[in-house]
Amino acid sequence: MNDEQIKKGLRKIVNPVGLVVAKTDDKKDVTTVAWISKVSNDPPLIVVSIAPERYIHPLIEEAGEFVLALLSEEQEALALSCGTKTAYHIDKFDDVGIETQETQFVKGFHIKGAIANLECRVKDAVVAGDHTLFVAEVLAANYDESKRPLIMTNKMGTICY
Ligand SMILES: Cc1cc2nc3c(=O)[nH]c(=O)nc-3n(C[C@H](O)[C@H](O)[C@H](O)COP(=O)(O)O)c2cc1C
Repeated sequence: MNDEQIKKGLRKIVNPVGLVVAKTDDKKDVTTVAWISKVSNDPPLIVVSIAPERYIHPLIEEAGEFVLALLSEEQEALALSCGTKTAYHIDKFDDVGIETQETQFVKGFHIKGAIANLECRVKDAVVAGDHTLFVAEVLAANYDESKRPLIMTNKMGTICY
């Protein structure tokens, strides 16, 4: 079995697309993620898979919390901007002109226009191959029932994931 076939087979897993937002005392960042899932009802746990080289990786470790914003289908351009630009060179919030809203329980921001903003506290970090799985408890969930989710497409996947 060749690697390309396995890669294409893995793209058959349907993933929603989101933004992870993390903030420490002196840094903040937002990055696109698709490798995300709910993993427990009680307590309510989710997992996000983040490569160690991502600018946001040490911010999540330091803050111990983050916001996972699940994007709506109108937000594909936002997903592509935050998933191709790099915080090593720019402030993505300013450069992309991201509209944010206040959080309740964790440091960071909600993303305006998302179908849901989940405020998360990290419970565990597990190295899984070339990514880290941040398992986090959801402390608050704000959502908009009128919007439809942005789903990872082959087109988006071939750009980056
Ligand atoms: C649709 C899409 C989904 C992505 N999903 C993930 C993901 O689940 N985990 C991850 O570490 N990177 C993911 N990325 C890649 C990062 O968002 C991308 O490399 C980003 O530009 C990193 O920014 P940085 O250089 O500031 O860390 C995804 C990118 C796109 C376009």
